[in-house]
Amino acid sequence: MYIDPFGLERWFAEYEHEADIMLAESGIRSLDAGRFDLNPGKLGYVIPTNGDPEFRASVGDRYDRSADEVLFTCGTQEANFLTFLSLLGDESGLCEEGTGSGTHAVVVTPTYQALHAVPDAFGDVTRVELEPPEWELDSEAVADAARDDTAVIVVNNPNNPTGQYHDEAAMRAVYDVAVERDAYLLCDEVYRLLAAEPQPPVASYGAHGISTTSLTKAYGLAGLRFGWVAGPEPVVKRAWRWKDYTTISPSLFGQHIAKQALGGQEDDILSENRALAADHRGRVADWVAEHDLDWLDPVGVNAFVTVPDSFDDAESFCRAVVEEASVVLAPGHLFGFPDRFRIGFGLPTDELEEGLDRVSRVIEASGGASVEGDAATRSGGDD
Ligand SMILES: Cc1ncc(COP(=O)(O)O)c(C=O)c1O
Repeated sequence: MYIDPFGLERWFAEYEHEADIMLAESGIRSLDAGRFDLNPGKLGYVIPTNGDPEFRASVGDRYDRSADEVLFTCGTQEANFLTFLSLLGDESGLCEEGTGSGTHAVVVTPTYQALHAVPDAFGDVTRVELEPPEWELDSEAVADAARDDTAVIVVNNPNNPTGQYHDEAAMRAVYDVAVERDAYLLCDEVYRLLAAEPQPPVASYGAHGISTTSLTKAYGLAGLRFGWVAGPEPVVKRAWRWKDYTTISPSLFGQHIAKQALGGQEDDILSENRALAADHRGRVADWVAEHDLDWLDPVGVNAFVTVPDSFDDAESFCRAVVEEASVVLAPGHLFGFPDRFRIGFGLPTDELEEGLDRVSRVIEASGGASVEGDAATRSGGDD
């Protein structure tokens, strides 16, 4: 079995440790641990190992699903991994009706590499490419790519890297394709709660819907490594069977803090984070316009921006930015688009402003579009 190296992680490994400013992180800035009670009691495994049943029931309510239709995982990454293992590992099918049997996946790209590299290692992947500048989801293209042996259709919504938030009608049209093919629709919804008006999650659509997510991006709690898969019981059960061999149980600290973050603190955390995302989106929009670049005004804290004309491609631009200005951006070739770079703007405001100023200076030094007036006065302040 072969797995492609994770291009973005390797790029981060090359630069993240040494660089001053990380403008390539795709989530919101991390919350301080001091805001939570940090004492979960005795440090055993989480028992039962699929997660506290009452807490799973309350997470299940968010999807109109029961506790047995939720499995707690170490982040969305493990949730996706276990789901792919469950769906593509063999051809036996998961339900009496055979839903999800097959080794073929249709994956809507560009997207987070794990969402196509992992199913490609276990099975066979057909990609359906979103097209710039709107990156719209085309259910007919998905239908054309689906086959009798398609077990799962995969969408990341809101999308990393483009920031496109496919609307509910488009998502339901893709869900219908999954139903027609007796397959599942797996939606990675890790950015969903950064939207001002989040749509219903795909696991609430019906028997063919699976949602994965975590507290990493919208809550600013990447270090918890706490997420879940929610969906039909046969899928969740089979994912649990695989989890016995990966991480056994979710993290005890993760579950302890997740209960607080999804409990009494949730409204405060999400409203703070959405306000930060909206404010920063405005600042980056100004910056993009000042440099004559193009983007889709994104949902979440990621945008996929065109490379300034004075550079050959995203890789040469991003290398110049990190080497001359110690700011890490994510080059678009890692997502199959060498004429774009991904900028993450969820970091603290002063770091964002400093990072944008530094990137401006690299663009100006290369002869690219210059910013009128003093860039430092653009929006100012750490608020
Ligand atoms: C779409 C998507 N899914 C999953 C992940 C991994 O998230 P987690 O920390 O929840 O494992 C990322 C991280 O960038 C992501 O962008």
